[in-house]
Formats: sequence, C-alpha cells, structure tokens
Amino acid sequence: YASEADAFGPGEVELLRKLADNLSFGIKALRDRTAFKESEVRYHSLFQQATDGILSVDAQGRIRECNPSICAMLGYECEELLAKNLQELISPEDLAAKPLMIAQAAEGEPLFVERKLCRKDGAVVITEASVTKLESGLLLEIARDVTERKQREEEIRARNAELAALYGLSTHMRAAKRTAELLPIVLVEIHRLLGADGSRVTLLLPDRVLCTIALGEGLWKKSTGLTIPVEQCFCRPVVQTGKPYASEDYGAEARALPPGSKEEEIGPVAFVPLKSEEELLGVLGIARHRGADSRPFTPAEVRLLAAIGEMVGNVLRRLKLYEEAERRLRHTQALRSIDMAITGSLDLRVTFKVILDEITAQLGVDAAAILRLDPYTKTLKYEAWRGFRGKNLGHIALGLGEGFAGRAALERSSLYLPELGEAEQDAAQEQLLAGEGFAAYYAVPLIAKGHVQGVLEIFCRKPAVPDGEWLEFLETLAGQAAVAIDNAELFHDLERANVELIRAYDATIEGWAYALDLKDEETEGHSRRVTEMTLRIAREMGLKDEELVHVRRGALLHDIGKMGVPDAILLKPGKLTDEEWEIMRRHPVYAYQMLSRIGYLRPALDIPYCHHEKWDGTGYPRGLKGEEIPLPARIFAVVDVFDALTSDRPYRPAWPKEKALAYLRQQAGRHFDPRVVEAFLSLTEQNLLFEGDGTP
Ligand code: C2E
Ligand code: SIN
Ligand code: SIN
Ligand code: FE
Ligand code: FE
Repeated sequence: YASEADAFGPGEVELLRKLADNLSFGIKALRDRTAFKESEVRYHSLFQQATDGILSVDAQGRIRECNPSICAMLGYECEELLAKNLQELISPEDLAAKPLMIAQAAEGEPLFVERKLCRKDGAVVITEASVTKLESGLLLEIARDVTERKQREEEIRARNAELAALYGLSTHMRAAKRTAELLPIVLVEIHRLLGADGSRVTLLLPDRVLCTIALGEGLWKKSTGLTIPVEQCFCRPVVQTGKPYASEDYGAEARALPPGSKEEEIGPVAFVPLKSEEELLGVLGIARHRGADSRPFTPAEVRLLAAIGEMVGNVLRRLKLYEEAERRLRHTQALRSIDMAITGSLDLRVTFKVILDEITAQLGVDAAAILRLDPYTKTLKYEAWRGFRGKNLGHIALGLGEGFAGRAALERSSLYLPELGEAEQDAAQEQLLAGEGFAAYYAVPLIAKGHVQGVLEIFCRKPAVPDGEWLEFLETLAGQAAVAIDNAELFHDLERANVELIRAYDATIEGWAYALDLKDEETEGHSRRVTEMTLRIAREMGLKDEELVHVRRGALLHDIGKMGVPDAILLKPGKLTDEEWEIMRRHPVYAYQMLSRIGYLRPALDIPYCHHEKWDGTGYPRGLKGEEIPLPARIFAVVDVFDALTSDRPYRPAWPKEKALAYLRQQAGRHFDPRVVEAFLSLTEQNLLFEGDGTP
C-alpha cells in the first residue's frame, strides 16, 4: 500500500468478495456443465449401442425413449414405439399378473421382472427386465430377450416329462407277459399321458393286406377284434409311409371308414407306427372328441406317441418271440401226448379223441373231424368229430371225390378253403355244413406208407388267415393221425395173427393130451376132466386168469412124460417090479426135459414136473415138501389121484367115489396139501366140481 488513502475501503472488499464468490460459482457451474455433458454423451452412446432393449416411460406408461435394440426386439420403428404405451406391448395375461410396477419401483432400487412382450408381427418375446425409477420420475426399463433360452428350458422340461412318461410306461409294460395283457396297459397309459378320448392298436397280419384291430378303447372301443383290409383302415397312411400321421379333423375327412367306429364323433387324431427293428408290426392311434373345445395333437404329443409306439413295438416283438417259443413247446407237448395215445392205446377211438382235442386246442379251431377210408367199399366214413352243433356224422359216407374230404382223398392233396363261402359245394358237402356257420375249411389226406387212410377236416366259424407255422402243424398232426390209423391196423393184423397162433398151439396141446389118454388106455376124457377140476379149484383158491392159462396147459400135459415110458410098463396089467417102478417114476423128469425147451410152455411146467411130489416130502422126482411144491401141482395131485382112483386102470378096477373121497381125507397132510383137500371137498359138497355140476 502507498498510502492509507490508496487502501481499498471495506465496501470495495465486500464487493470483491462477492465478485470472487460469483466467479467461483461460475467456474463450478462451468465445470459441472462439462461433466454433465460428458455423462450425457456417455449415456447416450450406451443407450444407443446397448444390446439390451431400453425404454423409458413416464408415470402413465407412455414411452418417452427407446433404443434400437428394443425396436429390433419388437419389430417396431422408433417413432412407432414412441407413440405407444408400455401396456400395449405387454401380453395381456402377463399384464394382468404383473402390471407396470411403477408403484413398486422405489427410486434407485431396480426391480427385476419377467415379461412377455408382443412383437409387431404378433409373436411373443420373453424378456427379463430391470425396472428403475429415475430422479425425474421416469421409469427406465432395460429388457433382455430370453425367448430362446426359455424355449430351450421349456423343451428340456417337456423332454424330461416325456422321458418320465416313457419310463413309467416301460415299467408298466414290464409286468405284461402276453400281448393281450400288454395292450390294455399301454392304452390306459396313453389316455392318461396324452389326454386322448380314444385309442386303438392295429396289428398287421402276415400277408400285410389285412390287419386286425387288436384293441380299441374309448371312441374306438367297439372296433376291437375287427379284421379288415389295410386299404380301408385308418392305419393306411402310416403303413404306406412308415411315418406318423396326424389330422385335426379325422371325422370330416372323406375316406372309407372302418365299420363299428363312431367316426363322425372323432376330431383330432394321431397315428404312429409300431415298429421293431425296422419291421412294421402295426399302428398305434389316438383320438380326441370332435368339437370346439378339442385340441389338435401337438407335434410334441405326436413325438411322444411315436416314441411310445417304438417302445411298444419292441415289447410286442419280445412277447411275440416268447409266445412263439411257448406255442412251439405246446405243439411239441401236443405231439408227444398224441404219440403216447398212439402207443398207449390200441383203441383208435381213444387216439382220435386225443388228436381232435389237441387239434382244436392248439390250432384254435372250432371243429375237427377224422374220416377213415374203407379200402373195400372205397368210402370215407366219419370216425371221430368234435365241435359240431349236435350233428351226428356217424352215418355219413362220402365216396372218393365226393365232398371236400372225398376230393382231398382222391387227389391225395390238402384242400385249403379259408373263405368257405366262395367255394363250390356238392350236395353231400352242403348237407354236412348246413346250419354249422363255418367260414373256413381245411382238409388234409391221411397218408401212411403211400396209402390214403382217411382225411382230417378242420372247420372255423370265423375267417382265419393261417400262417405257415399253423399249416405246418396241421400237416404234422395229420401225419400223426395217419400213423395212428396205420399202427392200429398193423396191431389188429398182428393181434389177429397172434390169436390164431395161440389157438393153434392150444389145439395142438389138446391133441397131445387126447393121444396120451388113448395110449394110456385111460377112459377117454381123463385129461379134459382133470384139467377142468384143477382150474375150478385153482380159481377157488385165488389164482389169477393169467396163471390159469398155464395151469390149464400144465394139467392137459401132466403125464406127457409117460411118452418116454415103454408100453410094456405103461400098459402092464399087474403090479410093477422095482425096476419098472424106477422107469415109471421118471415120467415127470421126461416131461420137464420135453417141455422146458418150448418157451411158451415153460411157465406150464409146474404140474407135469411136480404132480407126484407129496406134502410130507415122500413124493418124486425131487422129494419137495409142503409149500416148496408149486400150488398148481399141489392142486393137481389131489385131482389126479381122485380121477385115477375112480377110473379103471390096467392094474385095478375103478373105486367108488365115496371110497376115493375118504382116501383124500385120509391123505390130507400126508400125500396132499390139507387146504387143497378142503377146497376139493367143499366144492364137491356144493356139487360144483364134477361134470354136470353147475358152473359158478
Ligand atoms: P395113474 O394111474 O394116473 O395114477 C396116478 C396116481 O393116482 C398114482 O400115482 C397114485 O398116487 C394114485 N393111484 C392110482 N391108483 C391107485 C391105487 O390103486 N391106490 C392108491 N393108493 N393110489 C392110486 P403113482 O402111484 O405115482 O403112479 C404113477 C403112475 O404109475 C400111475 O398113474 C400109473 O400109470 C402107473 N402105475 C402105478 N401103479 C401101477 C401098477 O400097479 N401097475 C401099472 N401097470 N402101472 C402102475
Ligand atoms: C404156473 O406156473 O402154472 C402157476 C404159477 C404158480 O402158482 O406157481
Ligand atoms: C405164445 O407165446 O404164443 C403163448 C403166450 C402165452 O403163454 O399165453
Ligand atoms: Fe403122473
Ligand atoms: Fe393122470
């Protein structure tokens, strides 16, 4: 300062301070303004370049700003958006659930929300948005398009649900042991999983021209069991292309509809192939009621159905293989039981019954019959039949060439008439089929060793389409029937020959016995008499028929050994010398030597060999004692001595009957088995033993 007077006065200082204040305010303001400008530029470029869509709206939802991303996201021009209210962009159901959220948004605190926005073209964009209330009261909405992610998530969820459904179904299917058990399980699950009102499974028959509706449910319940040409079946498009087929209004489509279904009630449908290893087994179909509220099947539902179809196809194949194996086993068992009937029974009627039982059971037919060819009259006669409606076929005879059976026999070849209605019939055949309602017919000639033995006939009341295995089994069964007839004939021939042979043998034995009687100069009929008496006592004492055959032969031949005794001794009128006795006592041993060489007489040896043994052991040739002596011989000894005593002999006259009976009583327990003597006397008292006595 130069002088006090130069100094600034307080007023000036005050002014300067105020100026300085103003200046610093100005500088600050200038600085702030620069900063604001920068942030505004930065904000603007962010706003413009952000990949997220950004909108700012006022408190009423009017759009004030929009960035290019949101324009692209929604398909609008910027100007168009600026003319809109956010409410118009939010999808209606979303808006109802989550309004603009202006009220909720607190200043500076962003809210996160998922919104479905509508594009200009109508498509829906799913966004995840943050909503922030700005100082200015505007609402800033930053939206990110998550539509694709959401769709992927949705798809994954749907796939998971499908997998769970398939897994559940496969668990259910595992319980099925038969095709017939499997299908109801599958259809019930399909109705549940896909919200269907009807469903059906069609299986292709081996010819692939016909198909059978194996099971129908709901709208298609009535068509279960129908067999129709694929041409007329709903499954046709799938059979032709091998691909799924869906329609939104099936009932309205012009086509030959399968009978029995209420097609006009059917709206949306979906059909998928039942496939296993590329082989089309059939078609699986589902349907919904026709009507305004009825939803078409979505591609996802058709896809799920196709996956089910594939799974069911594989299970069907597994069951089919199992059922086939089981059927083969049953066939083998059937053949075995027929074999056993053939070998076990000589009665053809029994064998035929077994064959017909097995045929109707194993081939699943309604009726069957076996005709036999009479080789002399050349006519076929019904020998056995089953499944006819109370018809007696027993009196029907067909000439060769007459009727279907006659034709099969004459031509020696099988006759297959799966559509009987179209076959020409002669009068005999018409009479046979009248009133039976048969739809299919098969005849197989029964040929054994080159000869026609008869014909096997098969009848079905439903049209049947047999497969190769069925026909093969039919031919096998016919082969067995032919073998059965041949066997029975062979056996009857053999049996006849055998009976004749046995008769010849027995006549020979009787001849020998007669010759012996004559030679021994015993009264005629000694052998026959002692044989009859012996058999009566033997029967009384409990010997069985098969033993009596041998007792009879043994008794007839009891003294055949005397053929080895010289006539000089045999016919000697007086007492025998010791030497002569010695020879005479050999006759049982001679009998043994003669007869033991003849097989069929060996079991008859007891009497010829042992009839001179005595109960007390003093007999000959071996001195057997008590029950060592075969029973037939013990019985015979009593009868023989009684008959010898009551007959004239070269060495003494006949004794009276009473004396002989007394002798038997006296010798009981010595010469004779007391039980035999008792039986003998008892039968004598009842007058049952001697000729002319009443035979029991
Ligand atoms: P045969 O004449 O058929 O007699 C069978 C058996 O009946 C005899 O067996 C004997 O047990 C009994 N029998 C027969 N006649 C008499 C009899 O007068 N008295 C008694 N007590 N028993 C009698 P046996 O004794 O072993 O004789 C076997 C066979 O030897 C006889 O069969 C007969 O062919 C012959 N024979 C036995 N004694 C004589 C005899 O004195 N003279 C001759 N020529 N033959 C005799
Ligand atoms: C027989 O061989 O004739 C009968 C069998 C017996 O009882 O000893
Ligand atoms: C035979 O072999 O012919 C006879 C059979 C029998 O002992 O009855
Ligand atoms: Fe004798
Ligand atoms: Fe005798």
